[in-house]
Amino acid sequence: MDYKAQVTNSILSVLNDELSSAEVYEKLEQPKTQTMGDLAFPAFALAKVLHKAPNQIAADLVAKIDQTSYEKVEAKGAYINFFLDKGQFSNEILTDIIEQGAAYGQNDNGKGGNVPIDMSSPNIAKPISMGHLRSTVIGNSIAKILVKNGYHPIKDNHLGDWGTQFGKLIVAYKKWGNEDDVRKDPINNLVKYYVKFHQEDKEHPELDDEARETFKKLEDGNEEEVYLWKWFRKVSLESFNKIYDKLGVTFDTYNGEAFYNDKMDEGIQILKDKGLLVESQGAQVVKLDKYNLNPALILKSDGATLYITRDIATAIYRDRTYKPAMNLYVVGSEQTYYFQQLKAVLLEMGLPSAENLHHIPFGLITVNGKKLSTRSGRIILLDQVLDDAIELAKKQIEAKNPDLPNKEEVAKEVGVGAIIFGDLKNERTNNIDFVLEDQLKFEGETGPYVQYSHARAESILRKAGTIDFHGADKALDDPAAWETLTSLKEFPAIIESACKDFEPSEVAKYALRLAKAFNKYYAHSKILVEDDQLGARLSLVKAVSIVLKESLNLLGVKAPDAM
Ligand code: ARG
Repeated sequence: MDYKAQVTNSILSVLNDELSSAEVYEKLEQPKTQTMGDLAFPAFALAKVLHKAPNQIAADLVAKIDQTSYEKVEAKGAYINFFLDKGQFSNEILTDIIEQGAAYGQNDNGKGGNVPIDMSSPNIAKPISMGHLRSTVIGNSIAKILVKNGYHPIKDNHLGDWGTQFGKLIVAYKKWGNEDDVRKDPINNLVKYYVKFHQEDKEHPELDDEARETFKKLEDGNEEEVYLWKWFRKVSLESFNKIYDKLGVTFDTYNGEAFYNDKMDEGIQILKDKGLLVESQGAQVVKLDKYNLNPALILKSDGATLYITRDIATAIYRDRTYKPAMNLYVVGSEQTYYFQQLKAVLLEMGLPSAENLHHIPFGLITVNGKKLSTRSGRIILLDQVLDDAIELAKKQIEAKNPDLPNKEEVAKEVGVGAIIFGDLKNERTNNIDFVLEDQLKFEGETGPYVQYSHARAESILRKAGTIDFHGADKALDDPAAWETLTSLKEFPAIIESACKDFEPSEVAKYALRLAKAFNKYYAHSKILVEDDQLGARLSLVKAVSIVLKESLNLLGVKAPDAM
């Protein structure tokens, strides 16, 4: 039940239509301290219409309000303070959460619909970057949040597996490459060849012509080039998959740029038919003045297609295949302008889902103050960052809980969880500097802190053993529990808002709030004592465990039962 709505009704019942329900609802305030109740209505709002002093109005209304479902209602100056019946509130929310379990907050409003999410999308033959990591974990969390809100997401890894650079790579491999080296350490070696190509072509510009011809051969399906390209793609994907496995992220499709190579004609034809494609210095562009954007280059003067040409084909394909309710692209903010252009072109084309295209940008990430760049061939493997985190987690568990049976497993969940949480707790457009040690602390704004709070709840429940509290009265009236109870109540609204904003950080911040409230309660109250509130307290612990676990789950973070 929505308590704001309940209070609104109580006020409306003693008015004569002076205010509408929406007006009352939005005037309700949350008092700063508990001594002034849980919700307050300022009577100033009625002074003009009723021609009375606000204090008098407050007193008059309180005398008429039916107080049975409140602890009390009182006039204080110009305010009417409502004190909710905490026992009733507690009973309702705890019963609800325990009955629904992980489904608490699930929104099946029938809104639904398919939502393709373009996410991760690294480029083959190059190391996956921190940006791709962000796209992976943000996209994965948004997919989970969408499911929770009744949508059907399709996670698509739009691999950068096509383009003129593969002509260069094939030429470089044939000249300087070695099969065994690529098998042993694919990405590093492929990058090495590619970097060498760029050093050499400064003095030997004929290399560029060779690369162009080679790419043409690849496009035309020439056997040798296709064989090499497929091999590069395969070994690259294998190394990406190792990281995805560690992160626990899966994809529904891997339709990279190459997938659209034979699907570009239709988009170009539509642009032509609509008279949108115009010549500019030999190339074909779409003018976007109307959107205050520069023209989008669609075909180069030699007829070659570009990144955007493939993205137009991609959008048409997704539109047709999924009839999407929304189209999401989780890609770094450096491509914001590009996605504005893409959306504008698709709107001009009249693509049905173009209106619902959302670029979901995110900021840069540095690790220990260092930017991870791949341009220069300097590679900091993400894999390494994850392994370091797991190692660090293992040390901490070793120190805190040496007898834990499944240490390896838990260390993975904590280490990887710390990285994911450390990313997702930030508003996604912020730039972040990532200090591994900070993210792995068991105290503070970290994933392990939330995981630890969940494990603490589970440990209490284990200690409670066979005490059956399910049928117990759940009216917990301990004021120390109030913050935890109201936080629990907030969860469905948070999920809805996080979905609307495409913002996993709202869920992460919520989890921190709930964990903090619960730990405060825990420090203050003895839970396992035999009295008439024991069942209610255990119900609270159970509810906290359920909601913390589900919050972490929505972020793609595991919640071990002990750590
Ligand atoms: N591969 C690209 C990159 O690493 C990202 C692709 C994003 N998705 C898209 N449909 N353009 O920059």
